[in-house]
Order: sequence, then structure tokens, then C-alpha cells
Amino acid sequence: MREASRLAQNGEGGSKHVAAAEQQTESLRVKVWRGTQEGGFDAFEVPPSENQTVLDVVTYIQRELDPSLSYRFACRVGMCGSCAMTVNGRPRWTCRTHVSKVTDGREITIEPLRNLPIIKDLAVDMAAFFDKWERAKGSFTPSADAAADFAVVEPTSPKRRAADEAIECIGCAVCYSACDVVAWNPDYLGPAALNRAWTLVNDVRDEGQAERLAAVSGDAGCHACHSHQSCKTYCPKALNPTGAIAGLKRLVAMATLRGEL
Ligand code: SF4
Ligand code: SF4
Ligand code: FES
Repeated sequence: MREASRLAQNGEGGSKHVAAAEQQTESLRVKVWRGTQEGGFDAFEVPPSENQTVLDVVTYIQRELDPSLSYRFACRVGMCGSCAMTVNGRPRWTCRTHVSKVTDGREITIEPLRNLPIIKDLAVDMAAFFDKWERAKGSFTPSADAAADFAVVEPTSPKRRAADEAIECIGCAVCYSACDVVAWNPDYLGPAALNRAWTLVNDVRDEGQAERLAAVSGDAGCHACHSHQSCKTYCPKALNPTGAIAGLKRLVAMATLRGEL
């Protein structure tokens, strides 16, 4: 299993890559997870560069040292959410994480996100993560009246502000990886799907509120959250899924008291 094999560092493949880069004088020693749930770490030496990000390091390894390394990225500017990995034990968006901010030494360990199946090396299967957005009714339910005029939603209204605060999610799964309840209960909807539900619960144009509240209640829903805030701590967009989930808990409780759930 992956947890156990974390100790199996720098096998023969790793030594080969270190040798290939020996001529570089100053270098960052990088341990990278290879394989799936089963696997081990390879070690590489990567030359430092100005403003070097963790994604720069991974890209250097893939382009210069080992083209078989698998990882995922797209935008490189913190918009697409595809580059998240575990860096020195913490989930992070790697394209906006500077090496100098996460290590004061010359070593860094890069692994795939936790709580998702590993496809290969640093690339995880996001299917379960996005399936949960669907389970939480995380898509907009339009009014049946397509001919209706545009809705006017006051920017300063409390519901609009609540929706705006949570809507900047980039779907990176950093919070999902940080959540211990997801680790204990893989059925739990998790912080991102519930945060998405919260934006829609506060969207006065949405017609699917009863179904959404039903979807986020229950054993795998908002009440499973322990409010320990790892999601909030690590969210690279400084969102607050814990607060969103607390809001859902209140609404579910009120709907239950009214006999609607
Ligand atoms: S606050 Fe809730 S959703 Fe966030 S990490 Fe903790 S248990 Fe998970
Ligand atoms: S809530 Fe934050 S950490 Fe979670 S998926 Fe969205 S942007 Fe990423
Ligand atoms: S590559 Fe798009 S958010 Fe990092």
C-alpha cells in the first residue's frame, strides 16, 4: 500500500536520475512518488531557478530527467485547478506554490493528492470528486419559464454575498485531500461539493432547493463534517468550506423542523 511504501525511497531508478544531473552544482533534492497505490519514491536533482514553483520542478523532471513521469496541469496561473499535489505532506496548488515558501532546506517531497485513487505517479482520478458535486446537486436548476425576464439580484443582498464568497472555487480538490472525514468515510460528499451546494442554495434564481437540501442531508452530507477546518486552512483560493457547511447544517435543521425533510 502507498502509506507503507512511502518509506521505500530512492530505488535504483532514483539513483540513475541523480547521476544524470550530478554535473549541476547547486541543486534541489526532490523525492517524487512513482506508481499507483503501490510504488515508491524516486529521487532527482533539480537546478534551482528564480521564483521556481513546485510545478516548475515537476516539469523540469519530466522534460529533462524522466519523460515517463505523469502529472497534470493546464493553466499554470491558478485558474484551472488541475495541478494540485501533496508537497512536503501538505496539499497545495503547485503552479502558485514557490519552492522557497515550502522548504527552507534543499529537499522537497512531492506526492499525489490524498483521498483519490492514483492513476499514475502524481496524477489522481478526479471522477469520485466530481461525482460528489453531482450528488450534492451542484448544478444550477433553471426556472421552467425560459421566456422570463433576467433576474435582478442585488449585489449587496445577504444571499448574493454568501454565494459570491464561495463561488471562486477552482475544483482543485486540495480541500478534499486535506479532509480527514473523507479519509475515514469515502462516501462523505466533502468540502468542495458542499461548498458548491452552498453557492446554489444562496442563488435566488435556482429552482432546485428542496432536492438540494435533501441531497446534502443524511449520513454522507453536511452533518458528517467535524468542522476542524483543514479545508479552510489549505484552500488556495482562501475560501471557507467549513462556513459553507455550517450554513447548510442550519438550513437542513430548519427544514427538518418545518417537516420539509
Ligand atoms: S471542516 Fe469539515 S469538510 Fe472541512 S476538512 Fe474538516 S471535516 Fe472536512
Ligand atoms: S474549495 Fe478551495 S480547495 Fe476546495 S476545490 Fe475549491 S478552490 Fe480547491
Ligand atoms: S495549473 Fe491551473 S491551477 Fe495550477
